[in-house]
Amino acid sequence: MYAILQKRKLAENTYLTEIEAPDIAKKAKAGQFIILRIDEKGERIPLTIADSSKKTISIVFLVVGKTTGELALLKKGDTLIDVVGPLGNPSRIDTFGHVVLIGGGLGIAPIFPIANALKEAKNKVTAILGAKSKKTLFWEDRFKQTCDKVLVATDDGSKGQKGFVSDVLRDLMRREKIDLVIAIGPPIMMKVVAELTKGRIKTIVSLNPIMIDGMGMCGGCRVMVKNEVKFACCDGPEFNAHQIDWEELMNRNESYADEEKKCTCKARREK
Ligand SMILES: Cc1cc2nc3c(=O)[nH]c(=O)nc-3n(C[C@H](O)[C@H](O)[C@H](O)COP(=O)(O)OP(=O)(O)OC[C@H]3O[C@@H](n4cnc5c(N)ncnc54)[C@H](O)[C@@H]3O)c2cc1C
Ligand code: FES
Repeated sequence: MYAILQKRKLAENTYLTEIEAPDIAKKAKAGQFIILRIDEKGERIPLTIADSSKKTISIVFLVVGKTTGELALLKKGDTLIDVVGPLGNPSRIDTFGHVVLIGGGLGIAPIFPIANALKEAKNKVTAILGAKSKKTLFWEDRFKQTCDKVLVATDDGSKGQKGFVSDVLRDLMRREKIDLVIAIGPPIMMKVVAELTKGRIKTIVSLNPIMIDGMGMCGGCRVMVKNEVKFACCDGPEFNAHQIDWEELMNRNESYADEEKKCTCKARREK
């Protein structure tokens, strides 16, 4: 059993949960994730390790369906039956020069440990944070403490520039030399960023296909990269953005949309 030591609301529908997991915390590196199960009947869901201390890991999640909805109801003192990790390959950290990190929506959380690691490796780091509105934006202050520059875009203009993270990136590309872009967020956002930087700036993205075992055995997280089959859980989750078959990824993520909808409706009815 894994004890929940802290649970906080960060923004609308967005929560941080700190879990006591010393064995995972000892090994966790930027870019890695866990797979958790709430109880015996629970499904396995992957979540990125957004922060870690000596004995704890923190996850940040957006409530989108049944399991994230149930996770949001747990509080300090409750427990999780399984937490497996750290899974996936860590982010490649080196001295690249000027790195632009883009976090869209929930993608803001997983880029935070990468920002820290890249700063420690003496890079100039610019973060572009994107959200629907200021109500769903979080951690701008934490990024300001770590990064050289933080730029914000909201769809409705309630904070920062009105528009998408890709609009902010386009402007920045006109003004500054950028050596590497790392983008994490909804597939459509990562695809647009990839189109913008293609042939100009090396771009890494962290993919979020459906995962079940997280260890390369079930094939659920299959993605096409450079026309080759890769498993995001063990070959990734980070890949070269310019080599991904985005349409396939987005279609596969929709495979269980009907079942997920029914499951969420049933969970609501049972409450
Ligand atoms: C490597 C990785 C890291 C992730 N990190 C985070 C994170 O830090 N914070 C966060 O909020 N979300 C993260 N996600 C997405 C998260 O796993 C899904 O939001 C979650 O599984 C939804 O479950 P649900 O039952 O609440 O929703 P459901 O209604 O079951 O599904 C809603 C949507 O979530 C996705 N999803 C559902 N089940 C899975 C699954 N087993 N694996 C992957 N995606 C699934 C699908 O796109 C689906 O359409 C990550 C996904 C991956 C693959
Ligand atoms: S989650 Fe099963 S192969 Fe990747």
